[in-house]
Amino acid sequence: MSDDGLLADQRAFYRRRAPEYDEWWQRRGRYDHGPDEARDWHAQVDQIRTALVEFDPSGDVLELAGGTGWWTRSLAETADSLTVVDASPEALELNRERVARPEVRYLVADLFTWRPERAYDVVFFSFWLSHVPRARFHTFWTFVASCLNPGGRVFFIDNRHDPTLTRPDPYVFGEEGDVQLRQLNDGSEHRVVKVFYEPSELADLLSDQDWQAEVFATRWFIYGTAHVR
Ligand SMILES: C[S@@+](CC[C@H](N)C(=O)[O-])C[C@H]1O[C@@H](n2cnc3c(N)ncnc32)[C@H](O)[C@@H]1O
Repeated sequence: MSDDGLLADQRAFYRRRAPEYDEWWQRRGRYDHGPDEARDWHAQVDQIRTALVEFDPSGDVLELAGGTGWWTRSLAETADSLTVVDASPEALELNRERVARPEVRYLVADLFTWRPERAYDVVFFSFWLSHVPRARFHTFWTFVASCLNPGGRVFFIDNRHDPTLTRPDPYVFGEEGDVQLRQLNDGSEHRVVKVFYEPSELADLLSDQDWQAEVFATRWFIYGTAHVR
């Protein structure tokens, strides 16, 4: 069955969510579960930041689904050139303001149809892989390989399912398999794809597709690196 309608809803959700997206990342408003949880969240993010610094995203870097720019800011510090692609012009406008680097190239495009016009040394994506339907996993990673120069590298970050969590993120009001039903602050309701991977499952899937991957986890996040074997 076609998932085009679901993916269109997902794009619409993120366009509308752009002005409130940062509340989630910064654990503000309805995402504020107190100082202990916030400390834990930020400590895990710091662990990933350290891994990204060690990875050294230099050369020509492509960021997929860059959103409002929390990671674009870091990438812009080490990249020789940086291209950011996202389907939401609203998110990219916030990204542009946050990063404030005129040399960063921003492209509004749908990653399920967009094809690169050149190759890159590094491809980075955060909180994007979980929005790629399982049925599109293989095609997505083939696309990622097509974005890379020989010897090119990938760094990715995503959410991890925490079975001990008693309350999911407050915007989730329903789940049907890999589809979450989400509500924005304005009350509008949307469907998004949300696939949670455990590190070993993801590493195995990538290995089946001729990627050499290392996948790590904190309590709430997975992150890792990959290159074509
Ligand atoms: C969870 S956010 C992640 C943003 C950013 N990478 C971060 O770490 O904060 C997902 C992003 O994917 C973008 N997106 C959704 N569907 C897309 C599509 N089909 N093509 C390109 N970007 C898409 C949204 O606009 C949103 O900015």
